[in-house]
Amino acid sequence: MDANTKIAEAMRIRLEFPQGLPEHPGFLPGYRRAPDRVYTLSKNETVLALKNALRYIPEEFHKTVAPEFLEELRMTGRIYGYRFRPAGAIHGKPIGEYKSKCVEGKAFQVMIDNNLSFDIALYPYELVTYGETGQVFQNWMQYLLVKKYLEELTHDLTLVIESGHPLGFFRSRPDAPRVIITNALMVGLFDNMEEWHRAMQLGVANYGQMTAGGWMYIGPQGIVHGTYNTVLNAGRMKLGAAGDDMLAGNLFVTSGLGGMSGAQPKAAKIARATSITAEVDRSRIETRHSQGWVDKITADLKEAFEWADESTKAKNPVSIAYHGNIVDLLDYAVKNNLKIGLLSDQTSCHAQYEGGYCPQGLTFEERTRMLNENPAEFRKKVDESLAKHFRLIKTLCERGTYFFDYGNAFLRAVYDAGCKEVAKNGEDTHDGFIFPSYVEDILGPLCFDFGYGPFRWVCLSGKPDDLRKTDRAAMDCIDPERRFQDKDNWVWIRDAEKNGLVVGTQARILYQDAEGRVKIALKFNEMVRKGEIGPVMLGRDHHDVSGTDSPYRETSNIKDGSNVMADMATQCFAGNAARGMSLVALHNGGGVGIGKSINGGFGMVLDGSYRADETIKSAMSWDVMGGVARRAWARNENALGVSMEFNENKAALGEHITLPYVADEAYLKQLVN
Ligand SMILES: NC(=O)c1ccc[n+]([C@@H]2O[C@H](COP(=O)([O-])OP(=O)(O)OC[C@H]3O[C@@H](n4cnc5c(N)ncnc54)[C@H](O)[C@@H]3O)[C@@H](O)[C@H]2O)c1
Repeated sequence: MDANTKIAEAMRIRLEFPQGLPEHPGFLPGYRRAPDRVYTLSKNETVLALKNALRYIPEEFHKTVAPEFLEELRMTGRIYGYRFRPAGAIHGKPIGEYKSKCVEGKAFQVMIDNNLSFDIALYPYELVTYGETGQVFQNWMQYLLVKKYLEELTHDLTLVIESGHPLGFFRSRPDAPRVIITNALMVGLFDNMEEWHRAMQLGVANYGQMTAGGWMYIGPQGIVHGTYNTVLNAGRMKLGAAGDDMLAGNLFVTSGLGGMSGAQPKAAKIARATSITAEVDRSRIETRHSQGWVDKITADLKEAFEWADESTKAKNPVSIAYHGNIVDLLDYAVKNNLKIGLLSDQTSCHAQYEGGYCPQGLTFEERTRMLNENPAEFRKKVDESLAKHFRLIKTLCERGTYFFDYGNAFLRAVYDAGCKEVAKNGEDTHDGFIFPSYVEDILGPLCFDFGYGPFRWVCLSGKPDDLRKTDRAAMDCIDPERRFQDKDNWVWIRDAEKNGLVVGTQARILYQDAEGRVKIALKFNEMVRKGEIGPVMLGRDHHDVSGTDSPYRETSNIKDGSNVMADMATQCFAGNAARGMSLVALHNGGGVGIGKSINGGFGMVLDGSYRADETIKSAMSWDVMGGVARRAWARNENALGVSMEFNENKAALGEHITLPYVADEAYLKQLVN
């Protein structure tokens, strides 16, 4: 018996093709395709990449598949295994339509298919859910094999997934995670773009972004609530917005109508602002327009600003998409001295040289071509464009605009483009940037430090009625009189259905603090137990209080120097695993790029069991309070207050947070000088 026959016989769970290989399903027209990621491997490395991908394929098919893989690698910079993608559309189906030996095994399949759905995914054929490069798996072989594992999952096993690859089942316990995922965790010395690019081509690293590789993406709704909180509070702080009128009469200008960025016009409108969003890719504008998240489209800047003017004067919010480059838009605004209240950017600057940022002077199609044909020239153009973009923002801010970096590594990209003056100390980024990130000014102090973050759930039955019931139950768990954030969240969930936010599975986002999350989770589990609703998947964005260490984003308002550490996100992940969340995930990169963040998340399946109740009580609270405690230790005032309350309220349970003594800075400065 030859080696590969023995290997096949030694595996009970493997890809098999008894009827022969599936036909290449081809590509349906009209769906976006990922740009070429650029093949740079040497001949020896190419052989290694092919050997790596062929590990999933029985030997008898190697000579058919290897040339296809080689072509994919040379043409796209990756081996996706297109032939193995199931034909037609993928959608997150009702949980009952999946096979598994446990509810979690079915639930994860709903989540995976939702992440890869044509309605949701940015590049569905390349397994990219959002954020230009955020993939669920590296290739379709991994997709098929993970599904096979999930069909066999039981309450005594844990499936280990490393950068999309299912390493195997290992025995655990019913109250252990059913799936543990890591993505792109590179060893420090190699934790940079160049090594990442090589590892990705070799097929050993997956860019999980945040929720893509953590199977917790719920469509653009996921970010609408955070954007709503950010824009609304920016308006309250900087433009004097108040009351039920919210931002009516104010203009918000930004860019990007992609996976996450597409939430901006919708969020702005819910906050009653007029918005103009620049987008270079017409197809993404059409997607948001057909969803009703964009009201009007134009490629004429004069028209865009005239519409905005009418809308602000009438205090009648309208969301306008400008088909063109954001730099052209800002240039026009500066030259014509037009007033912009709030300004941001959500191009994919975490991957600015990989196509995430379209430089001024190139159409979307030209950028794709140049990226393939002349990446060095493309890089130069990106740098020039970012420098100009930055200068225009500076001018507008001098005229009264409030600009905030919205977590897409824009300021870092400006710095990387050679504009050192974007750094506060004019030299390096240790002291941050001259413009605030939205976390420094808004989301950090007003939400994360209190524990409020992007809690979410998916009604796995797929029934809109289940979602309606959970919306109502969640609203009943919130006391709108406690803090203004609670009132905002209460209003959000009250209006959620009316705002038509669902794309893909029946999911909901709702910012909540530790107490709120635990309360709502227990309530939902009780509803499942009583048969009022089907099973529910709880989760959150990794972009949260505790889940992410990212000095340019989530931890940008941590000022004790520990923002360069990844202890919090790692502890959060480990603590969630120890306390039995159904799924735990830890990733490198996320929304800001390789080496710039460590982020993690969880999934918790509510099956109505008392075991789930116990997990909720310990894990859900830890998941938030670990971050609040760290933020308190960094002397963040609001986190200190919440931690003091925690020490008082949880004394009977023995829970306790170490609090910092606060030193007199003026005295210390005097001492040092
Ligand atoms: N703040 C947050 O909470 C948060 C959350 C998720 C993602 N992000 C970050 O936001 C960025 C965008 O995410 P996404 O999922 O929307 O990515 P995406 O790639 O799907 O969308 C970005 C869009 O910007 C457009 N674009 C690029 N350059 C442009 C230019 N110069 N002018 C006009 N349009 C341009 C692209 O065509 C694309 O449609 C990423 O860097 C992501 O990591 C932030």
